[in-house]
Amino acid sequence: MKNPELTPPYARYLVHLIRPFPNFDAFFIKSVREKAVQLLRLKPGDRVLDVGCGPGGSFPYLVSAVGPTGEVIGVEISPDIAINARRRIETNRWRNVRVIEADARTVKLEGKFDALLSFAAADIYASPQALDNLFPYLKDDARVVAFGAKLTRRAFGGLLNPTLRALWKLSFASTPKVNYEPWAPLRERLDHLQTGEYFFGCMFLAWGASPVVSQILGHTPESRQINDSGGADCVSRVPEHDCD
Ligand SMILES: C[S@@+](CC[C@H](N)C(=O)[O-])C[C@H]1O[C@@H](n2cnc3c(N)ncnc32)[C@H](O)[C@@H]1O
Repeated sequence: MKNPELTPPYARYLVHLIRPFPNFDAFFIKSVREKAVQLLRLKPGDRVLDVGCGPGGSFPYLVSAVGPTGEVIGVEISPDIAINARRRIETNRWRNVRVIEADARTVKLEGKFDALLSFAAADIYASPQALDNLFPYLKDDARVVAFGAKLTRRAFGGLLNPTLRALWKLSFASTPKVNYEPWAPLRERLDHLQTGEYFFGCMFLAWGASPVVSQILGHTPESRQINDSGGADCVSRVPEHDCD
């Protein structure tokens, strides 16, 4: 085992358990992964970042969206988990997918990207330091999508919220705490952030586009012509909107 301190406590055993199955992904998460990648609106040839990529569960959807001329770059802090991601890449013989073993808060990347995915990675979507480090690598109008856990105001909140808070104790000590609007750091950095809720309001998808510099300099954001529904069946700027 490489430095275990770089692997979140919840994954320290799991990573070895699933290593013999490089294409493993939890069945219940597949449809929301698919939706997250759809919201990135990738085109063939695009370059996409998957930060906090874990064992690469989103890679198949990203690879299929960018095609053989595109590129998928995963960033993963845990050397142990990165081994699993690389096994997935080797097993599928993807030549245009790479995993960079680094901390999203300090990683240095090459070139600019058309899109950023942060799937189930609160250390990225809820971390101002990680976002400040990553956003300069995004092209103007790059699409950004986050999926993760949130506290719920629904009826089961009294049960679900303490469970989520307890599970959070298995993350890094530095992981931003779960709250009702974990997308807040993204909202400060994106134009037109939209959100949807899943799984009784304790999961969310958030999506938007990075600002266009020429518009910051000379035009108002309202002048942009964007149909931003992304084809999702739930579109809301109100956090408590129901997508279940
Ligand atoms: C819950 S897992 C999700 C993995 C993957 N995105 C998925 O959908 O299966 C979160 C991942 O983020 C990684 N991570 C946590 N903090 C990070 C950081 N600062 N930089 C890069 N990766 C990080 C963890 O090691 C873990 O693999």
